[in-house]
Amino acid sequence: MNVFLIGSGGREHALAWKLAASPLLKKLYAAPGNPGIAAHADLVALDIDDHDAVAAFCRNRRIDLVVVGPEAPLVAGLADTLRAAGIAVFGPSAAAAQLEGSKGFTKDLCDRHAIPTAAYRRFNNAPKAKAYLREKGAPIVIKADGLAAGKGVTVAMTLAEALEAVDACFEGAFGAAGAELVIEDFLEGEEASFFCLCDGTTALPFGTAQDHKRVGEGDTGPNTGGMGAYSPAAVMTPDLVEATMRTIIEPTMRGLAEAGTPFSGVLYAGLMLTRDGPKLIEYNVRFGDPECQVLLMRLEDDLLVLLKAAADGQLAPMSARWRDEAALTVVMAARGYPGTPEKGSPIAGLEAAAGEGVEIFHAGTAQVDGGLVAAGGRVLNVTALGASVAEARERAYAAVDRIDWPGGFCRRDIGWRAIARETHDG
Ligand code: AMP
Ligand code: GLY
Repeated sequence: MNVFLIGSGGREHALAWKLAASPLLKKLYAAPGNPGIAAHADLVALDIDDHDAVAAFCRNRRIDLVVVGPEAPLVAGLADTLRAAGIAVFGPSAAAAQLEGSKGFTKDLCDRHAIPTAAYRRFNNAPKAKAYLREKGAPIVIKADGLAAGKGVTVAMTLAEALEAVDACFEGAFGAAGAELVIEDFLEGEEASFFCLCDGTTALPFGTAQDHKRVGEGDTGPNTGGMGAYSPAAVMTPDLVEATMRTIIEPTMRGLAEAGTPFSGVLYAGLMLTRDGPKLIEYNVRFGDPECQVLLMRLEDDLLVLLKAAADGQLAPMSARWRDEAALTVVMAARGYPGTPEKGSPIAGLEAAAGEGVEIFHAGTAQVDGGLVAAGGRVLNVTALGASVAEARERAYAAVDRIDWPGGFCRRDIGWRAIARETHDG
């Protein structure tokens, strides 16, 4: 098969690496790609916002499957254009991508189908939102409705903070994404990420993970896209997976199919494991980044076969098998992240750092004059397998320490929650 991968981050490098391992792969193309992806794919200079140009490329190169990594092209309708042109695509339609593109859309769907989630109200003006906040008090959660690159959520511990978040949102802090907002009850519990491959009707469980969103050790400091992750999340017991499928994923799939907008692609549920069972915090319509990296390290099956089956509506007879080992990834970021990262610092020693059971995925690198440099906030994902999360972590940090990149930093405590659990249980 000829496959075209859209995206340029560590998630897409992991997808390229795993797709390249498929005996069914003839040729892999990627746009825009990155220097890590270039080891597995031909990089194509193509404007991915120009959906007709993407479709034309697919016809010219006889592409059998397009795999879309990030959410923005999906919300913008890339999958619709490709499907209309008869091209198989892994990723949802714009209508189904509203699960990530509009928090209010998802909350209303949960409401209609009795899917457990925090109680909420939607607002399009500050006075009504503030009156509601004064009635509810803190802690409370304020969310810009649209895509805000992970920055649109305020978990307000005081009423003053909550009121400020409402003003910021309606004053344009998140652009058009903040024209509407959702205010929801604060949920208490441990968070976990749960993934399913979906083909419109069938949802196939595709692993669990936990990530670290804060930039600082001990989960402190500003939010980021994720500073590290591990899989599996032991907190997601088989009973919790069953409850999540029955009360959250399956009603979502049925609800969207009934509305004429079936979901295909990867459904990523952000869950809060509360005393009353799992509740949906949010949906994403793509793999997590860096969660994808740890999932794919553990996947035994052929990713290409699974993604093509999802695209073709053929998931029902499929299963996914996983290695017994755990995987953990440490994000190395450029100094300044998550503010303004310093670009251009040289990176060396990647070949020596990788090895059996250790993969270094490129997230924000560039090749300049034959050398590798930092070109983004999150730059490398140092990913390792191990018999336990603790062992995977040891191997990942051993690799981190072999990388020669004075311009980068990472958290030293990725996996602490899972390791505390392993120590306690073991
Ligand atoms: P989101 O972008 O919706 O994933 O939200 C970002 C983070 O805010 C989540 O990972 C949670 O840590 C937190 N969060 C979101 N909604 C709630 C909620 N209702 N209660 C408590 N924490 C929340
Ligand atoms: N790591 C969180 C995300 O991909 O949304």
